[in-house]
This record gives sequence, structure tokens and C-alpha cells, in this order.
Amino acid sequence: MIVFLNGKFVDKSQATVSVDDRGFLFGDGVYEVFRVTDGRLFAADRHLRRLAQGLEFLEIPRPAALDDAALLAAALRLLQDNALTRGDVLVYLQFTRGAPGPRAHQFPSPRIPPTVYLAANAYTPPEGVRTQGASVVTTPDIRWGRCDLKTIQLLPNVLAKQKGVTAGAFETLLVRDGVITEGASTNFFAVVGGVLRTHPANHHILSGITREILLEEAEQIGVSVVPTAITPKELAGAEEAFLTSTSADVMPVVRVDGRLIGGGEPGPVTQRLHGSLRARQVSPSGPPVRAVP
Ligand code: PDD
Repeated sequence: MIVFLNGKFVDKSQATVSVDDRGFLFGDGVYEVFRVTDGRLFAADRHLRRLAQGLEFLEIPRPAALDDAALLAAALRLLQDNALTRGDVLVYLQFTRGAPGPRAHQFPSPRIPPTVYLAANAYTPPEGVRTQGASVVTTPDIRWGRCDLKTIQLLPNVLAKQKGVTAGAFETLLVRDGVITEGASTNFFAVVGGVLRTHPANHHILSGITREILLEEAEQIGVSVVPTAITPKELAGAEEAFLTSTSADVMPVVRVDGRLIGGGEPGPVTQRLHGSLRARQVSPSGPPVRAVP
């Protein structure tokens, strides 16, 4: 498998990172996950915008040679080199603040180049779970105050996800100040009293690209949306619920902490929105980007 590391395309077995890397020592970096369908990156512009915002907030310098066009071209070359131009694929992209030498919390001075890594992997969407509908559990949201940044520091998310997996669930919903913020690696929606609701995009959630697109699709098909968080009590009486993410697409939720939601079957709004998203994924607009030769 060929991966991209710091400007080079190398076999994964040869792709090594320094033990001084600040990603390794401090979780000091940001990442993105792109969905690829039949060789086309879905909503790449939105992912690149979020990446740029994260790099800017973290003040991680970005070499001119790694601008958006270069990253896209690198991703496409990975698809070609790994024979991944058909079917569903996930491209992982990560920037860290580099590997400056002896460990010190403050930024390296003078600044050093970031460590930049991209990898593409074939992906099988969880269609079996989607047909049945997913089970989720809830847990307190113990994350920091800037969940809107897609940083590689994911320990609370990892612990939450494992709690769900251990309980046999697909996802774990995070609860802060009495409301559901999002899932460990997904955004969360519910239809309550005929209205589609989701936590507003503030510092307490990662504003997902899939979430953003779903909100647009909902408006298009005439589903009324109110960006207001849902309480666990409201969820118990919800007609429908679902998760969204780059990898899960729109995933119906039919069971929360062992209690059935909406009769225990994926709901009609959920299914329509999944159809809309899938249609957009397979026919994205814009010209294809060319791979790095
Ligand atoms: N997770 N919320 C959190 C905490 C996430 O980690 C993710 C994505 C989302 C959904 O965002 P998007 O629609 O842009 O994928 C929401 C990625 C896929 C991951 O960590 O693998």
C-alpha cells in the first residue's frame, strides 16, 4: 500500500515518523477524512476549508507546496497507485506541528515544517446496520471547549466509542449540560414533533460536512429543520433519529440505551435524506481533479 508522507509517495512499511513528532507527543495536529466514490472525492472543498480553518487556529504553518490543489492531487494519486478508483474509499489526511527535537510544550521556534500524511483505504459502508437501524448508548461528554476543531486529540471520543462497542452498540451519544451534543464520531439528528432537530454548530460539536449537506438537503425536500439540541427525554419520544458522518452517511438510530425509538424501524425522513445524500455522493459537481503525475 502506497501512502503520502511529507511530500513522498512511499510504501506504508517505509513510512516512518520521528518519536519527537508533536502529533505523537502532544496530539498536536488536525485531520480530515474524505469520502471517495468511484474515484471522486466528495465535498472536497468543504473538507479543505475545515482543514485550513483548523491549521489557522492551531497556527500550524503550511508549506506553499501543500496547498489545496496539491493535497487533492496527492489524494488522487493514492487512489490510482492503490487501485482504488472504483467503489467506496476513505482518504485520511493529517497535519501535525512537526518533529522539533526534545519535548517542550510551546511551539518550536523557529517554526518547522509540519508532518503531513495521507492514506487511502477501501471502505465498506455499514449497509447491514443501516437496514436494521443502529443501537446507541449515551455517556457524559467530557471533551474540551473547542470540539469544533478537528484535532487528532480524540481520547474522550475513543473512550466513548469503546463504551458503545463494549455494549454492542454502533455509536455512543455524548451528553453535556442535559443535551445531546453529537456522537463519538458522528453528528446526531432527531425528528421530534415533526421537526428535524440537531445541536447548533457551536464550540460543543464538530460541524460535520455530512451534517452541513444534510441540512441543505432537508431544506430542498421541504423537511423543516430547527438547529436546537435534543434532550435525552425528548429523544425517548422522538419519531426518528439518525447519525451522520463521512463514513456512516445517514445511519438510522432505532434504539437508545436499550429503549426503542420510533417503533424500532428506520424512519421515512431518515431514509429520504439518506437517499438524497447518496445521490449527491455518486454525482458530485465540478470537474475531476488530476492526480500528481
Ligand atoms: N469523524 N462529529 C465528530 C466528533 C466526528 O469525529 C465526525 C467525523 C463527525 C462527522 O463529520 P463529517 O460529516 O465531516 O465526517 C461529527 C470522522 C469521520 C472520523 O473521525 O473518522
